[in-house]
Amino acid sequence: MSIQSPSGRVHIERHHTDAVSGEALAADVRAGLTAEQKTLPPKWFYDTVGSELFEEITRLEEYYPTRREREVLRAHGGDIAAATRARTLVELGSGSAEKTRVLLDALSVEGTLERYVPVDVSDSALISAAEAVAEEYPRLEVHGVVADFVEHLDVLPTGPSRLVAFLGGTIGNFEPGPRADYLHRIAGSLRPGDAFLLGTDLVKDPQRLVRAYDDAAGVTAAFNLNVLAVLNRELGADFDLESFRHVARWDAERAWIEMHLQSRRDQTVHLKALEFDVHFAAGETLRTEVSAKFTRDRLAQEYADAGLRLAAWWTDAAGDYAVSLAVPPL
Ligand code: AVJ
Repeated sequence: MSIQSPSGRVHIERHHTDAVSGEALAADVRAGLTAEQKTLPPKWFYDTVGSELFEEITRLEEYYPTRREREVLRAHGGDIAAATRARTLVELGSGSAEKTRVLLDALSVEGTLERYVPVDVSDSALISAAEAVAEEYPRLEVHGVVADFVEHLDVLPTGPSRLVAFLGGTIGNFEPGPRADYLHRIAGSLRPGDAFLLGTDLVKDPQRLVRAYDDAAGVTAAFNLNVLAVLNRELGADFDLESFRHVARWDAERAWIEMHLQSRRDQTVHLKALEFDVHFAAGETLRTEVSAKFTRDRLAQEYADAGLRLAAWWTDAAGDYAVSLAVPPL
């Protein structure tokens, strides 16, 4: 399905609906809450409140990745533009397209860019971001795609010299198997002359990592707990948010941060829409997110395993965060 945006300046294509998303939530919750280690996929954090809390996280002193990524893009946007000479920028999980401006500016200076394709599950975020970009870059064709960037890779517009960008460090939310699978599918969607631009947070002092996911003001705790409010609203569940505490821990072996919600007491939660009860023992946790941290060697290896080649690697001055460019083999 395809529609024109309110201004007529941007073209929006839909591959995702709220109804489908409701079924996906139900299926994820049913599977995740009946598992031995209870889990929920992090994508359900991002309702309106959750998206606002995440924006607030990006402004926290402790949460460095967003600022570091912007620093890398500012310093090396010209290098990215020169290396890719991209005619289309496809952005997976574009959100508010805040981080995109730096890249769009650099690609505009290079003079090759013709089209911007933001891809996001949230159609309200997508339409407003696409409208704003179209306004700010009048010569750019803006073609938004409402889609889940994991499920719908195959529907993305084709064309010569595409730069597919996956920024923000969201690749860290994938566990190793699904991540290998996703990189492999990305590789399969790239033609010669295309490139993949990826933002990844890097392994560093565990204390700094934990603080980035357990800030003093408790914004990340509120963000984590909000997923229970999402389940209460969307599935008629009766989670008492006060009965869970936010926990962030570093798993050195897996090189990832885990966020959990830990039950403060023995309790049973009813999920009306799913017609089932979930029991939590006192101290039991529900794992709500993993956020993997990378090294250059490991990412180069993962690209190679996926059939890609690491073509360029840029970090911020402190070496906290990397933006890398990968290309398909010739
Ligand atoms: C948006 C997935 C990159 O993993 O750092 C921030 C989400 N979770 N604080 C991350 C998040 C807790 C974030 N990503």
